[in-house]
Amino acid sequence: MSDSRVTVHTEARIDRIEPEVHGHFAEHLGRCIYDGVWEDESSEENGYRDDVVSLLRELEMPVLRWPGGCFADDYHWEDGVGPREERPRRRNLFWAQGTEERPEESNAFGTDEFLQLCEHLGTEAYLAANVGSGDPQEAADWVEYCNYDGDTDLAERRRENGHDEPYGVRYWGLGNENWGCGGRMSPEQYAREYRRFATYVGSMDNLLLDHDVELIACGFEHHEWNRRFMEEVGNNAWGADFPLDHLTLHHYYGGTMSVAEADEDQYDQFLVEALEMDRHIERIAAAINAVATTRDIGVIIDEWGAWHPEAVAENGLEQPGNVLDALSAAAVLDIFNHHSDVMTMSNIAQTVNVLQCLVETDGDDAWARPTYHVFDLYAPHKGNEAIRTSVDTPVRAVGDDELPLVGASASVGDDETYVTLTNLDCRDSQTVEVVLEGTTDEPTVDATVLFEGRDVDVTVDASNAHQYEPEELDVEVDESRLTVELAPSTVAGISLP
Ligand code: AHR
Repeated sequence: MSDSRVTVHTEARIDRIEPEVHGHFAEHLGRCIYDGVWEDESSEENGYRDDVVSLLRELEMPVLRWPGGCFADDYHWEDGVGPREERPRRRNLFWAQGTEERPEESNAFGTDEFLQLCEHLGTEAYLAANVGSGDPQEAADWVEYCNYDGDTDLAERRRENGHDEPYGVRYWGLGNENWGCGGRMSPEQYAREYRRFATYVGSMDNLLLDHDVELIACGFEHHEWNRRFMEEVGNNAWGADFPLDHLTLHHYYGGTMSVAEADEDQYDQFLVEALEMDRHIERIAAAINAVATTRDIGVIIDEWGAWHPEAVAENGLEQPGNVLDALSAAAVLDIFNHHSDVMTMSNIAQTVNVLQCLVETDGDDAWARPTYHVFDLYAPHKGNEAIRTSVDTPVRAVGDDELPLVGASASVGDDETYVTLTNLDCRDSQTVEVVLEGTTDEPTVDATVLFEGRDVDVTVDASNAHQYEPEELDVEVDESRLTVELAPSTVAGISLP
């Protein structure tokens, strides 16, 4: 007798899971860039941290958002190009940085360093342009510097700075949290500013770049704000189309759960908050569709993840990494799969050392956190078609909410069907039956599990990180039914070639 049953409706396809949905975010904040991906502020040669770069490379990150965050709306890209010794040192208005923890920006890591890192990682770049304190000319110039192949001064500067070919940056965000740190704007105000920026960046794209650029507007967790933004941004006297390809929001959770002091009830509450992602995606998609009925505009969650009280500006938003956070990532990635019909990208915050990072460093050590292994385990979903799954599972009452104890999603690709299962219950095991609807032949199965027997709240560091690698999972196969025993707080991936 199983505790939970997951039915995979093999013929009910949702949509392609865009690989960019497994994307990442890196800001000039704390030790994300300096001491994270970049070793030495004064380095004149190649200053990338090889250990971090090699861990990130193995992850096959589809897209990386940079340079912020709040930092984006105080960043002037021209400060960070050209000979490093001539670049100006500036304030960082929002965050202290590096091992010295100073609210300053050396500009040692700028556009070329970032874009060449992306090339090295095989990652698509997503640049966030300054709307809060910048101007449309600066944003359009940045696009020209990065992407234009002609004979202009800016294209020539890129060549002089070592990159002959245009970088071909496709994703351009215009502003970040402009309801808050990006200028405290009303939705109407941001919409008007956004339209102005989109006009210049968009015209550049039309004339010089063959429509290669996709424009991204930054929305809010308050969906009335999103609806008002959409109304105003489309309210154009000349009847032009909505000037955006994607609308984003940011969803952090865990603000009340101090990792060191939490108990099992708080773990449940934390996971319930992570699952609110589902409602946010539904509501932002509804806000878009209520207004932009003639335009296909994607949903991006370009900042998300656990943000516990331990992570404060004074410590560069650092917090311990553990299995609990990783479980929340699995739950959220399942939600993204269920919404593959609207989701075009997501970017977990942040890549190295900050918030729910995937890689952490300490001096000469660098290691993968449990969340890294979740992304790795979910990687086979990337580019597949998501399939509808129904999950019949016990729920636990958490305040006025409920925590479903088992989560799941499934997808199909050229060579396999892939199913991911999570036991969100930190107390008990779950026997899970997976029914592959419409399958007649007994499938061959290859399955792995993460975190079996590991304590959910133990801090993962250089000394124990190796204990969180995936292990083989036993699966009982009976025609089109699979049965697995999922230990508390575990995540499993089942491949059916
Ligand atoms: O990721 C940390 C901060 O959170 C970002 O700078 C900002 O966009 C968000 O509020």
